[in-house]
Amino acid sequence: MDYKHLIAENIKIEGFTTEEIEAFIEVPPTKEVGDYALPCFRFSKSLKKAPNMIASDLSQNFPKVSGIKSVECVGGYLNFKLDRDGFVKEIVQKVVAEGENYGKQNLGEGKTICIDYSSINIAKPFHIGHLSTTVIGAALYRIYKYLGYNVVGINHLGDYGTQFGKLIYAYKHWGDKAVVDRDGLKELTRLYVMYHEKAETDSSMDDEARAYFKKIETGDPECVELFNYFKKITLSEIDKIYKLLDVTFDSYAGESFYNDKMGPVIKELTDKGLLVESEGAMVVNLDEYDMPPCIILRSDGASLYATRDIAAAMYRKQTYDFDKCLYVVAYQQNLHFKQLFKVLELMDKPWAKDMVHVAYGMVSLESGSMSTRKGHVVLLEDVLNRCYEKALSIINEKNPNLEDKEKTAMDVGVGAAVFGMLYNNKIKDVVFSYDKVLNFDGETAPYCQYTVARCNSVISRANDVGEEIDWSKITVNEDEFNLCTILGTLPQQIESAATKYEPSYITRFAVELSKAFNKFYFDCKIISEDKNQSAYRLQLTKATRFALKRALNLIGVKTPEKM
Ligand code: ARG
Repeated sequence: MDYKHLIAENIKIEGFTTEEIEAFIEVPPTKEVGDYALPCFRFSKSLKKAPNMIASDLSQNFPKVSGIKSVECVGGYLNFKLDRDGFVKEIVQKVVAEGENYGKQNLGEGKTICIDYSSINIAKPFHIGHLSTTVIGAALYRIYKYLGYNVVGINHLGDYGTQFGKLIYAYKHWGDKAVVDRDGLKELTRLYVMYHEKAETDSSMDDEARAYFKKIETGDPECVELFNYFKKITLSEIDKIYKLLDVTFDSYAGESFYNDKMGPVIKELTDKGLLVESEGAMVVNLDEYDMPPCIILRSDGASLYATRDIAAAMYRKQTYDFDKCLYVVAYQQNLHFKQLFKVLELMDKPWAKDMVHVAYGMVSLESGSMSTRKGHVVLLEDVLNRCYEKALSIINEKNPNLEDKEKTAMDVGVGAAVFGMLYNNKIKDVVFSYDKVLNFDGETAPYCQYTVARCNSVISRANDVGEEIDWSKITVNEDEFNLCTILGTLPQQIESAATKYEPSYITRFAVELSKAFNKFYFDCKIISEDKNQSAYRLQLTKATRFALKRALNLIGVKTPEKM
């Protein structure tokens, strides 16, 4: 519940909007004064009235509002006290009644959202940067589903381009099937890096590589077979990571899927007079919109990334009839998506306005950044493994007798990496630090997971505590009230995460809720002699667990029973 908003909504001051009034509301230095206060000095000038007069008028006109116990004017302030007992009762009852489905809504009924995420490149290693698009996309996927949308998850595979020609060249010259079968993507990467090293001094290699690529396109059996072989190796490796992260897709239609779907795009662009020649290439001029031209066909007639994206957008509209189509792609591609959306708009597609580039920032490891070509890659698999190992060693130290330690370490290690990627506003660049994401006392997955386990343990030890609560005998304290104010915001946080394409609302909620619960846990005896109070505090613990588990589940973090 947003009290500032609730208060502001019930106050009318000429010349000020509800938002402005809300922004003026303060939290007084002590609770004796009130929970919130509106200083009336700033209205004095425009209302031509003394502040204490304004406060007194406002207090007389303030209606009876559920959740607010009293309104008083003191000096130039209007002070509000909340009906904490009523509020806490309402939240606890609501969350416990909704249980696992707390915060679920039907906002999206009848609406379809396509989400293009992960969209990895075949035959290239998955480095830590791929974790962002994968986990942001997957979180949005779950969030929209929870809000009742029909969601289509699309892995727009990068399975087209001259790099496949290069790889065929490298494989034919230096490759060995047995080694590729054994080492998979690692070996393909080695070959790819080798190609680039040698091609630096031998420019004829690029021509040959291009010729191989052309052969894939024209259906040469040997080249197509090799291409499919590379694709299979890549997909089976990434599949292991998707399984670990619990990420799924409804479609793997990648770039090559559109090979035979670009003819109509070219025709439509031509018919609409949008396609012009420029230095031998065919482009859509975007000068008027302060953008470089969008290249549709290269001078050798080959299509480009953008061409396939136009075909893909049209295909998605036709196939799924989406209400929105999201692209979870790093901000380096800002220009590409601006161009793409503009071209669709110029093609008179009314749905061009429903396309959204969900951009996110760069990820680097503490030790520096990386590039595929030179082979300085930090593999996602290695990152996740290291998180697992670190988690396992922490568990071995803290709780060596825990059952199922390996499984728990996996949930904690992977969860830590995922949570770390989703903690900040997604547009920010992040420096990934193992120690930071795995800090059990930090703003991390392990901290929240530990809090769930703590709730579990309280609940399992409370067998003989009843369910009935006599609310008239409950006096809510500061910790309980604080816990409930946070608990009550989950539905709003889920909605904000969806409308702003920002899973960090939920990640931060999980941390705030965990902090509030832990403070409550340390300050208050949950199970005591007082049966009624124990029942109430146990319900509060259950409500916390429902909300916390749900929040972590939405962002893709698992919650072990015990830790
Ligand atoms: N494969 C691309 C890359 O790694 C991302 C593709 C994003 N999706 C799209 N429809 N363009 O850069």
